[in-house]
Amino acid sequence: MKFLQYSVLPFLLVVVILSLSGATLAHSHGDFLHCLSLHLANSSTISKVIYMRNNPSYSSVLNASIQNTRFSTPATPKPLAIITPLKTSHIQSTIYCSKKHGLQLRIRSGGHDFEGLSYVSEVPFVILDLLNFRAVKVDTKNKVAWVQSGATLGELYYGIAAKTKTLAFPAGICPTVGIGGHFSGGGYGILVRKYGLAADHIIDAQLIDANGRILDRESMGEDLFWAIRGGGGNTFGIVLAWKIKLVPVPVVVTVFTVNKNLEQNVTKILHRWQYIAHKLPDDLYVDVGITKVSSSQTRKKTVQAAFIALFLGGVDELIPLVQERFPELGLAKENCSEMSWAESVLYLGRAPRTSLDMLLDKNVIPRTIFKAKSDYVKEPIPESGIEGFLSMFLEKEADFASMLMVPFGGKMEEIPENELPYPHRAGNLFQASYIVGWRKEENAESGKYISWIRRFYSYMATYVSKSPREAYFNYRDLDIGSNNISGYTSYQQASIWGFKYFKNNFKRLVQVKTMVDPMNFFRNEQSIPPLSSP
Ligand code: FDA
Repeated sequence: MKFLQYSVLPFLLVVVILSLSGATLAHSHGDFLHCLSLHLANSSTISKVIYMRNNPSYSSVLNASIQNTRFSTPATPKPLAIITPLKTSHIQSTIYCSKKHGLQLRIRSGGHDFEGLSYVSEVPFVILDLLNFRAVKVDTKNKVAWVQSGATLGELYYGIAAKTKTLAFPAGICPTVGIGGHFSGGGYGILVRKYGLAADHIIDAQLIDANGRILDRESMGEDLFWAIRGGGGNTFGIVLAWKIKLVPVPVVVTVFTVNKNLEQNVTKILHRWQYIAHKLPDDLYVDVGITKVSSSQTRKKTVQAAFIALFLGGVDELIPLVQERFPELGLAKENCSEMSWAESVLYLGRAPRTSLDMLLDKNVIPRTIFKAKSDYVKEPIPESGIEGFLSMFLEKEADFASMLMVPFGGKMEEIPENELPYPHRAGNLFQASYIVGWRKEENAESGKYISWIRRFYSYMATYVSKSPREAYFNYRDLDIGSNNISGYTSYQQASIWGFKYFKNNFKRLVQVKTMVDPMNFFRNEQSIPPLSSP
């Protein structure tokens, strides 16, 4: 009898805990919705703002901006509700009710987070999706714009191009990326050598903090304004809109693509690129994308480097410049095309250029399943090292793998490391990123692809930054460390990933977080923790 009692007890305890937690969950879920409905008051508004699991539109709203389809499987944890606010008071109510009922809040703008953190959580959560906050207001006279966080980069570029061909904005290459996450993590693009990051050109912002207060640059103060320009989203508050400084570009720019594969001396050309690309005039940006392809000569699999460039000027000026500074590339006039800066965004983003309307198309870049990682390279990689990583692209798991090498130098060399939270400035030859994809039907075997990219990353360790091994926050990688998502995360634990993304700026980010959100309401697996929190 005694034996029975002892053996049944743990089982009963589990049953009780499970049923209690289920009841609590259902309870907090219902209470949250009740709370929000009361605050929104108007029933016609409620149907446009709250999408519960039983709403027929729930799945389409949830999936609308999921970029990495690794996080849209039946096993992916789903939010209790998706809130799509129409006005700021809806956001304030969402903060109030999720705080009151202990639900985690995930903020989503463009949904491009590499690890899906804007729409997935292991604890009960709701998504605040800014899809209705997408206004872009361009003021060409003062060379500034206000852009709301839910807009895409394409919408911003389109809005600028609709008014002028001589102004631009130095943000990311892919038009579907959301402003909210991109600006709050730094944001680099094809103008990075000429003008630096998107975050370097933010001059004001509108933010709602954990207490529901609406703040601008003046009322939030310079510490918080510094932190939101690169210190990462979902940490300091919800950024509703950003005021940005536009930058000048010529009416005509030139782009080119030159492909070189293993049979065409690619190792030597890549080796040379490392000595040249960061020292070219700031008006010239030449990046490299490496993939496995079928050789047009031998039809066998080979590895190809695509040298893709933007020059802020005409083709006649570009050709002699490249022939003098990078003769190994063998650039010819037929590789080049002249176009406007906005068209060049589509070209460099590998998107169709049928019309500028493509900038507004949320599906212009096909959605894929992937895992990615990033590095910064400070010394040229020797030819033997390049041969080693190129050969890894011939492995079976690398059919849908690529590596992108983005040259730095130029403006990035001039901006001090602590000017903004993004620290990877002077002394970097280039930023390297690696990505591996696979087909949807191979999802069950995703482990072998993820192992491939981890092996690739281990191989690269010899050639990249060390102590810390730096990484780009906007290329989120949970392999480098994570917070405890439901409990307290110590400064030491967060430092593991924090110093890689932010170097010494991590310390100031923690101070700002401690000041503005000491209870750690805005949190995720890689949000900045306060010094001590519940
Ligand atoms: P998403 O909505 O997923 O948000 C990302 C993070 O920011 C989440 O933690 C989220 O909670 C938080 N967040 C979002 N909106 C917020 C808000 N308004 N206030 C507070 N927090 C907010 N990067 C780059 O620098 N240059 C490039 O060229 C590219 N290109 C590129 C192409 C593709 C196909 C992908 C998938 C990604 C990129 N990126 C990139 C990376 C991109 O900059 C990064 O994923 C951004 O965080 C995406 O911002 P979204 O708003 O789209 O993401």
